[in-house]
Order: sequence, then C-alpha cells, then structure tokens
Amino acid sequence: MAHDALFQPLDIGGVHVPHRILMAPLTRSRAKQPGDVPWELNATYYAQRASAGLIVAEATSISRHAKGYAFIPGVFTDEQEAGWKAVVDAVHAEGGRILLQLFHCGRISHTELLDGDAPVAPSALKAASQTYISAESGMVDVSEPRALETDEIAGVVDEYRQAAARAKAAGFDGVEIHGANGYLLDQFTRDGTNQRTDAYGGSLENRLRLPLEVARAVSEVFGADRVGYRISPTGDFNDMKDSNPIETFAALAAGLSGLGLAYIHVVEGFAGSPRDEDIAASVRAAFDGVYVANGGYTGETGAERIASGKADAIAYGTLFISNPDLPHRLQHEATLADADPKTFYGGGPEGYTDYPALDTAEA
Ligand SMILES: Cc1cc2nc3c(=O)[nH]c(=O)nc-3n(C[C@H](O)[C@H](O)[C@H](O)COP(=O)(O)O)c2cc1C
Repeated sequence: MAHDALFQPLDIGGVHVPHRILMAPLTRSRAKQPGDVPWELNATYYAQRASAGLIVAEATSISRHAKGYAFIPGVFTDEQEAGWKAVVDAVHAEGGRILLQLFHCGRISHTELLDGDAPVAPSALKAASQTYISAESGMVDVSEPRALETDEIAGVVDEYRQAAARAKAAGFDGVEIHGANGYLLDQFTRDGTNQRTDAYGGSLENRLRLPLEVARAVSEVFGADRVGYRISPTGDFNDMKDSNPIETFAALAAGLSGLGLAYIHVVEGFAGSPRDEDIAASVRAAFDGVYVANGGYTGETGAERIASGKADAIAYGTLFISNPDLPHRLQHEATLADADPKTFYGGGPEGYTDYPALDTAEA
C-alpha cells in the first residue's frame, strides 16, 4: 500500500477517522439564490467526496453581516439550516463525516453584499484586496470598513454561538472556526490589522480575546472535542501581516489547547512556496490536540510529514476538487486529475460534480 502513514486511523477529538486524508474547506460559490441556501447540487458534490477521512465544508457566513462573497452559503436562517441538513444526511448516507467551517469575513466585504452597511473590522483599516460581489460586477475592491464598537463584540460571539447551534441541529459532526486567511478572527489576531485600544486590542493577550471567546462559545454548543480552528500564520493573503507571527500563533495555539479543542488546522504555505518550519513547529508544540497540515501537499509529501511526526493528518484542497475519490487514488498511486480554476467559483455542475471517480473514469 502506498503512503502508509496516511492510512492509519485517528481520533480527531470525538470524531474517529479511518485514515488521515482530510478535505480542506473550499468555497465554491454555488449556494441556491436567493437566500444563500445549500441545496441538492451541494449535497451531490459533498456526498461524492464522502471517502475523505473528514470533510471540512466550505466557509459559511454565520450572520448577515458576516458575508464577504456572493453566492457563498450561510447558516443563519431556517432555510439554510434545512439545506445543510440535506447535505449532511447525504454525506452520512455514504459513510462520511462532515464539519462546517464557520466564517465571518470582517473587512473583506462590500457594501453591496451588506444591504449598504459598511463591513466590520477590529480597526477601520481598508485592505488592499478584492471580493466577488455579483456575476455582473465580478471582483471589486473591498469597501472601507468600520471598527466594531466594544459593546458590539458580545453580539459577534453570539452569532458564532447561534451558527454553531444551527450546525449542530443540521447534524454536522462538528465545526471548524475560520481563523485564517485574513478574515475577521485573523484580523483581530494579527497586529497589522488590530490597532484597538480596548480589551480586544493592543497586547497579544487582548488580540486573542475574541478568537478565544468564540472558541469557548462554540465549544459550549458542540463540546470542545468537536471543534477545530484554522490558522494561516505565514499567509499574507488579504493584505495581512504581523510583527511576530511565531509569538502570536504559538500563543493562540496554546490558548486553544487550553480550551481542549480537537484540532488545529494550519495552512502552512502554498504549493511551491517555502514553509516556515519554525512557526509550524512552535504551533505544534503549543497545541495538545491533533495537528492538521495543509498547503501544497502531495500523497508522498503528506505521508512524509506524518511519518516525521510534524503532523497528524493532511488536508487537501485543490486535489479534492478534481479527484472526488482522492483517498483511493493516493492509496493506489493512481493518476490524479487536474482541476480547472475557471470553474472554481460559481456556476453549476461543470467543474463541480462532473469530475468522475476512478472506476467510472476508467470504465
Ligand atoms: C477554490 C478555493 C476555495 C477555497 N476556499 C476556502 C475556504 O472556504 N476556507 C478556507 O479556510 N480556505 C479556503 N481555501 C484554501 C484551501 O482550503 C487550501 O488552504 C489551499 O487550497 C491550499 O491547499 P492545497 O494546496 O491542498 O490546495 C480555498 C482554496 C481554493 C483553491
């Protein structure tokens, strides 16, 4: 059997997985309109990928103000919850396990997506970044954000709590908190975007206050052993920076570990780009639970990473877009299909549910 280290079972908190090939969260912008509702097309797509050790479903808006891109799903209305339930049922019917990624975009949004309101952020600092607002307008510069008032922050925590409760009601096996890639929680965490002078900014302890309050609130709903947290400590996507990423992310990992979270999911870098091994090692050392590595891994490099003790599981993103049966293909060292970036975001079945599993492809 190829890549043995990937094919050992693992307990990720309270979720037992038969192997260590996880599906990374992937925004595909195909929720039913109006209402950003998950529907049959999404259920088919995820059910096709149910052989993943664990599916982390795409970034999903926790509230109306959390939305940052057109056509992404939400988890804050009854209709959305019912749509997700059908997705979860379809994955479970195929023997899979699925978590939902809880998402607040913070400053990476646009007034047109927010009924004319400004996006909210730790500080009123506009990102040099773009977002997708509609099929007609496509990608545009993000809007000027406004800083959240101190007394609004408890409401944001509550939105996470309510979204987690809906995810639980929909039957998800757990949730992943999206703390990566320059969205709201990452904006609070890093000092390049958090210039607050209240209890939620300034010192490192203060910058981590909201991320940890969210992790605690979500854990109260699901149990911490059903909750993961995603970070991208070296990523500069969405105009992000931090003056001391090792210290920042080791402290965040330690705080999450103290809450007993099931796993930390680390976007370590992208294909071909160098990794910062010191940051990865310091996060791993600070976190007691499962360490999920992501970013540019192949079957071979993923298995090596686990065998070396530097990760417990590997999340694959783009490979799962075009290879719904990725674990089978890696196990048998079969040919891997390439994904077409033109169909990553938006549209229908093309480039979404029409990548065949291997036996169909070979037939
Ligand atoms: C089409 C696309 C959508 C993505 N959507 C999300 C998302 O919703 N949430 C998230 O945390 N990361 C998202 N990412 C990042 C991936 O989860 C992953 O970190 C990245 O693709 C690197 O892993 P890979 O080299 O295995 O593809 C997305 C990436 C792609 C290509």
